[in-house]
Amino acid sequence: MREANACTLSENTDASQQFLDDVICGLSQSPKTLPCKYLYDQRGSHLFDAICELDEYYPTRTELAIMRSAVHEMADRFGTEAGIVEYGSGSSLKTELLLEALDSPVAYVPVDISDQHLHAAAERMSDLFPDVDVIPLHADFTDHVKLPEFPQSPRRISAYFPGSTIGNFTPDEAAGLLERIAETCHRGGGLLIGFDLQKDVGILEAAYDDAEGVTARFNLNLLERINRELAADFDLERFRHRAIYNRDQHRVEMYLESLAEQTVAIGEQEFTFEAGETICTEHSHKYTIDGFSELAASAGFRMAQHWTDPEQLFAVAYLDVV
Ligand code: AVJ
Repeated sequence: MREANACTLSENTDASQQFLDDVICGLSQSPKTLPCKYLYDQRGSHLFDAICELDEYYPTRTELAIMRSAVHEMADRFGTEAGIVEYGSGSSLKTELLLEALDSPVAYVPVDISDQHLHAAAERMSDLFPDVDVIPLHADFTDHVKLPEFPQSPRRISAYFPGSTIGNFTPDEAAGLLERIAETCHRGGGLLIGFDLQKDVGILEAAYDDAEGVTARFNLNLLERINRELAADFDLERFRHRAIYNRDQHRVEMYLESLAEQTVAIGEQEFTFEAGETICTEHSHKYTIDGFSELAASAGFRMAQHWTDPEQLFAVAYLDVV
């Protein structure tokens, strides 16, 4: 997400100005890139939900199965009267399973950059768990998250970061984010986190380039969004979706590949593409258990316990702040 040659933050904090700045900046780089967070507009989020239902896309159902099989052991790690800080708002079944399994949880703090997702999730969770103080926090969780006042003090604060979103970050960025999570939870706290495991390249590439073409539509939707919101003229017929596994970096890389030499206008600016030139739109890093445990250790955590599925496709780990 945060690239090495990061574009400067716009003075103008208006979201669409920031989007324009980020797009211009990403397409001015060589090789061209676009931040993956922009994949998730309304249509993108809808397409992502469809991806989660695909046969080829194993992460969502596998993580849910791991949660179902081990949620009581996980709940023991959180302890009694826990405070839970969720990174990304938990509209998901996984969060519900977790809260149901906890012993007298006192507070649930979903953190999300999307106000809409945040408030929908918060409302749902307070309906389901009337004894839990639900305190939505509108923030970018890649920054340091400052916790609100708790009406009832939790005995321990644990973060929950499901969905292998951590995979979108390079290992260095991930370590930085984990450090900030450790600061938020304090010593004695912890983090329950889902991450995807290294595996056969065929399985990985199929998961990100499905036969039905849903992932292709998800990726190409970014160009449609740029056309719509930033008055651009990308010809969607002249780009195609690619997903390749980079074995050296242990990550799936998603690209939009130009099928011809072409020029695209975005507002006042023009960008040229060679035939075969790519825009990188997303990285999805894959770990080993040991590799993730080392990454966590470098950020001030100790992996206390981890759970996987029988095929070792995906993992969920509980990390203690040390
Ligand atoms: C939402 C970041 C976990 O990397 O697997 C799925 C996003 N992109 N298919 C992932 C995604 C294409 C997904 N995460």
